Amino acid sequence: MKIIMLGAPGAGKGTQAKMIAERYNIPHVSTGDIFRANIKNNTELGRKAKEYMDKGELVPDELTVSILLDRVAQDDCKTGYVLDGFPRTIPQAEILDQELTKLGETIDFAINVDVPDENIIRRMSGRRACVSCGATYHIEHIPPKKEGICDTCGSELILRDDDKPETVKNRLNVYHTQTQPLIEYYSKKGVLRDVDGTRDMKDVFDDITSILGQA
Ligand code: AP5
Ligand code: MG
Repeated sequence: MKIIMLGAPGAGKGTQAKMIAERYNIPHVSTGDIFRANIKNNTELGRKAKEYMDKGELVPDELTVSILLDRVAQDDCKTGYVLDGFPRTIPQAEILDQELTKLGETIDFAINVDVPDENIIRRMSGRRACVSCGATYHIEHIPPKKEGICDTCGSELILRDDDKPETVKNRLNVYHTQTQPLIEYYSKKGVLRDVDGTRDMKDVFDDITSILGQA
């Protein structure tokens, strides 16, 4: 099963993608996580990506597309995957489609996690991310057992540089101009499914599993 998560920054794509990956036993592929791992390891890709991410801009397609295509070509993606944060532009979606067509494959579902901008800003300022394993928390909704420390690996939790309020506003603008058109793109293909992302994350997941089936 090949799934794309659509939605504004902070809509809960990553939260739901992790739950989908676990339930359906497919890899969770997040371009944002791949970039953050590269930033942490101070690779050339990481240094280039950081310049854009810190401003809330999109990383250019030339840097993004090849890393995503390399990732989904790996063996663990043979039975499917859930893409989180890719595609984010119409050209990215077109390239993904071209590559899938070559393999005789298609995207099964594009799940649009719908959350209004007002809710987003509140969520992002409360998010905390683990510097080491990428796990995410929310100071109100999903607090770690010990403040500032990751439950999973014991590393430090931080506010992402791009979660500062001014940057979040820019990320929302970028989302509306460059990424939102993908909703129509996947709707035309007949694979778009909308879920109300403002509710409790378990209710959102119940909606998603009723779309994907009870595997
Ligand atoms: P990326 O990491 O993809 O960031 P994003 O899309 O801005 O999305 P987020 O990860 O911020 O939000 P999310 O929807 O995953 O929400 P989450 O589940 O964490 O990308 C970062 C940057 O990398 C981009 O700005 C860009 O520069 C670059 N980039 C990445 N991919 C790219 C691409 N393809 N092309 C070009 N550039 C690219 O939830 C948010 C918070 O809310 C959490 O604290 C969570 O606990 C909480 N929460 C989640 N669900 C709920 C709920 N139902 N109720 C209450 N709280 C909830
Ligand atoms: Mg995310």
